[in-house]
Amino acid sequence: MYDILVQNARIVSPEATVSGDVAISGERIAAVLAPGSGAPAARTIDASGNYLLPGLIDPHTHIEHMYKPGLYTNDDFFTASSSMAVGGVTSLIDFAIQLPDVSPLEILDKRLGQAEKAATDYAFHSCFIRGDEETLDQIGELVRRGIPSFKIFMAYRSRGRQCEDGVVLAILEEAKKHGALVGAHTENGDIIDYLVARALRNGQTRAIYHALTRPAYTEEECMRRALFLAKVADAPFYDFHMSIGAGVGVIREARAAGLPVYAETLTHYLTLTKEVLNRPDGINFICSPPMRDAEDIDALWQGLADGTISTTASDHCSFGTVLKKQGEDSFDKVPNGICGAEFRLPVLFSEGVNKGRLSINRFVAVTSTNAARIFGMFPQKGIIAPGSDADLVIVDPEREQTLSFKDSLIGLDWNTFDGFRVKGVPVLTMLRGKVIAENGKYIGRKGDGRFVKRRIDPDVLRYPVV
Ligand code: URP
Ligand code: ZN
Repeated sequence: MYDILVQNARIVSPEATVSGDVAISGERIAAVLAPGSGAPAARTIDASGNYLLPGLIDPHTHIEHMYKPGLYTNDDFFTASSSMAVGGVTSLIDFAIQLPDVSPLEILDKRLGQAEKAATDYAFHSCFIRGDEETLDQIGELVRRGIPSFKIFMAYRSRGRQCEDGVVLAILEEAKKHGALVGAHTENGDIIDYLVARALRNGQTRAIYHALTRPAYTEEECMRRALFLAKVADAPFYDFHMSIGAGVGVIREARAAGLPVYAETLTHYLTLTKEVLNRPDGINFICSPPMRDAEDIDALWQGLADGTISTTASDHCSFGTVLKKQGEDSFDKVPNGICGAEFRLPVLFSEGVNKGRLSINRFVAVTSTNAARIFGMFPQKGIIAPGSDADLVIVDPEREQTLSFKDSLIGLDWNTFDGFRVKGVPVLTMLRGKVIAENGKYIGRKGDGRFVKRRIDPDVLRYPVV
């Protein structure tokens, strides 16, 4: 007798779509059975006509995030993750960002405490702002604690985050020794700082200047430099939030040479252009890197479809309009970051699968399986298979909806995807065998989420495996 039987689903993996039933015992998938198996279960869930996908993984969020001292996002781990659960997400990876006077291990403990109220499972990337001995010495212990992925910033000098090239190299070399993966925010901070200062001197303060002072070449140059340093260190590399079409060529070349290089792009880079910054509410859309042009969108979809880009994420960082308005008079005063993690599934399904840009199998790969593999959660997460966590999402591919901030649980007064008309929405989300969201309503409990201790498969660090 199983606890749950999900019946007559179209079960999707990166490799195949099969019709069948999924049997669940406790927190795990017990069996994948033929459709109409009639296997005995305490509860049955009918998924006829719908897709059954592994729960989505968002490998890049900033929840309960301190943008700078005194300036925090409007959400917390419960409001954000419960909203994401309604949107089909079952695991997220957030950041524990080192502070000038707080070490990576100390900030990790603090972030783990904050995340205890999460509605989904969670993990953290450790994020370094310097490469001194204390920081490098903590890498081994972080990996032992299940944090085998690190992020560094190659921009944001004024926010005290920018790592110089020598620091980038030192972190790449040290992380490699411990079987860890380093990724970066690849924008050339020095050139951007120069362009911003010049724009402000010329009175160019409108929101669009945020994008115009961070041109595509600043990202491309920095990506190439980061990849060069990774090659020198003989280390793997993950490019966080790639926004430029030219980046697809850069990554394609590196992967064709067999380098263990992975790229992530975001829902908003696949759907919005920098023109949003010219809207009356343009300041709300300020994030870094900025949105680009229609040609970039086309190239990013192409890169996702052909295997060059491995993952999608939200980079969710929820500031309400009051906080955004701090920069009403000048784009450089606006806190960078936009919300929308709760709508990643319907937006990417509509724009990707329904518009014929991605197969349903590739959709699963880039929203769940690949993140699980790259960041060391596979096969616990990211796949519907016996022994894996019963993290599932049922998607009705025909159901239509107009997205609105009012349908989010974060309580913000706007959303990046407000007004998007979508077809294909999540109708049920299950976390380790427990239904936590159904038909747009969150029905789980605060603290259902659990920390996921990760270890990256050595092959992921050696070759471009996904
Ligand atoms: O604009 C972005 N990507 N914001 C993320 C959070 C931060 O602190 O920069
Ligand atoms: Zn980010």
